[in-house]
Amino acid sequence: MAEFKQAAANASAGEKLMTWVDNRFPATKLWNEHAAQYYAPKNFNFWYFFGSLALLVLVIQIVTGIFLVMNYKPDGTLNAAGIPVAFASVEYIMRDVPWGWLVRYMHSTGASAFFVVVYLHMYRGLIYGSYRTPRELVWIFGCLIFLCLMAEAFMGYLLPWGQMSYWGAQVIINLFSAIPFVGPDLAILIRGDYVVGDATLNRFFALHVIAVPLVLLGLVVAHLIALHEVGSNNPDGIEIKAKKDANGIPLDGIPFHPYYTVHDIMGVAGFLIVFTAVIFFAPEFGGYFLEYNNFIPADPLKTPSHIAPVWYFTPFYSMLRATTDWMVHVFAALIGLSALFSLVKGQGGSGRKIGGIVAAAIGIALLYTFEAKFWGVVIMGAAVVILAFLPWLDHSPVKSIRYRPDWHKIVYGVFVLNFVMLGWLGIEPPSPVYEKMAQVGTLFYLGFFLLMPWWSQLGTFKQVPERVTFHPH
Ligand code: HEM
Repeated sequence: MAEFKQAAANASAGEKLMTWVDNRFPATKLWNEHAAQYYAPKNFNFWYFFGSLALLVLVIQIVTGIFLVMNYKPDGTLNAAGIPVAFASVEYIMRDVPWGWLVRYMHSTGASAFFVVVYLHMYRGLIYGSYRTPRELVWIFGCLIFLCLMAEAFMGYLLPWGQMSYWGAQVIINLFSAIPFVGPDLAILIRGDYVVGDATLNRFFALHVIAVPLVLLGLVVAHLIALHEVGSNNPDGIEIKAKKDANGIPLDGIPFHPYYTVHDIMGVAGFLIVFTAVIFFAPEFGGYFLEYNNFIPADPLKTPSHIAPVWYFTPFYSMLRATTDWMVHVFAALIGLSALFSLVKGQGGSGRKIGGIVAAAIGIALLYTFEAKFWGVVIMGAAVVILAFLPWLDHSPVKSIRYRPDWHKIVYGVFVLNFVMLGWLGIEPPSPVYEKMAQVGTLFYLGFFLLMPWWSQLGTFKQVPERVTFHPH
């Protein structure tokens, strides 16, 4: 057992209490390690608000979620008025529970806010190369968080048991049935029934309120422990730990508390202004945050004419819809061409080249063995999973976009425009022109990552300075 520390004889009651606690629980040690003596680079900009804002939204979702559960009922059966009990319980929260409307709108707006904040947080990581050594695990935990967040939002959306809840779940769960051999059984396992029904609602409720949030919380803790182990990156992509003073403190580091706690409060204030404005003035946000069809109770006998997921899923949904038979031909042609290219131009012995041709032939054969719908599911999944491989795809000699060739900035700009375009296309009803646009967008998205080992090292890179660039204000 560690020696008990003694508080000084003239210590205040508060100090004595802290000494008592510290002898039993490392409160001061933790506070120092993660705040008062955690040295963060002094050149953080507004992009660094989004991590703490993601934490804030996580807390908002958990707290409002607890209050919603007090009155919500996960029950798909019809009440005396012929309305599903789950749908009616949400209406009850909105109309009769004191402040229920506020709690519900905070939670529904919070879901969209979460994705806004997390997409910006991820984009910051992308442009400053925050996923690169030694932060690979920070990034991978982040990718797992993103997956959990998607699962959490998808299952939460079923709970109001409106038309979009019901049919959205029906469409997405049916995708699993496209998986060869196990698909149809897997879809039944997820639903707990042959169609989306009361069993589905009950299991999604259990997963949404307890299982996934627990995993999410665990992952967020792991994310932050990993980050504090290696220290934060910064807009210059310079490792501040490389230059320390005589006391071992990074020359370009400042204590997280009070500097960044105060800085983050500014971000929180800005966020809350926008967040509350949406809650009070536009909680449906033009049908993007709460879809109009979801104000109609779920009806298994009436399919809405247009089913679209909520905006944060639509870039990936677009890639799913873009994978038609024609796209399968394009993928086959691309695999064939790249095998031919490596045969003619590639390095390595003839064994390796033959291996490449055989692998391409197997790939093409597989492409035509299974239906396009299955490949759509694969592409949609791959679009998310590929993010986790970024640390190994980026071969640029510098981390931050600031010191990359100017045309890299254009590539990152086009990547954003393309992602937004895919998102928009995923909301719109399909048309032949939109389908082609989504196909080009999908190829660009995948090409951006798959060709990154090649293009990320091309061009003239700028000299990275020794110390971070910082202008006091
Ligand atoms: C619930 C969701 C999340 C929470 C609460 C969260 C929280 C945080 C916090 C508080 C920080 C430190 C402050 C900052 O650098 O902004 C951080 C850093 C970081 N996060 Fe997240 N994060 C979340 C999701 C993600 C996701 C989805 C990714 C990527 C896929 C990600 C990647 C990173 C990276 C790379 C850093 C280090 C950034 C740097 O040092 O430049 N995070 N996160």
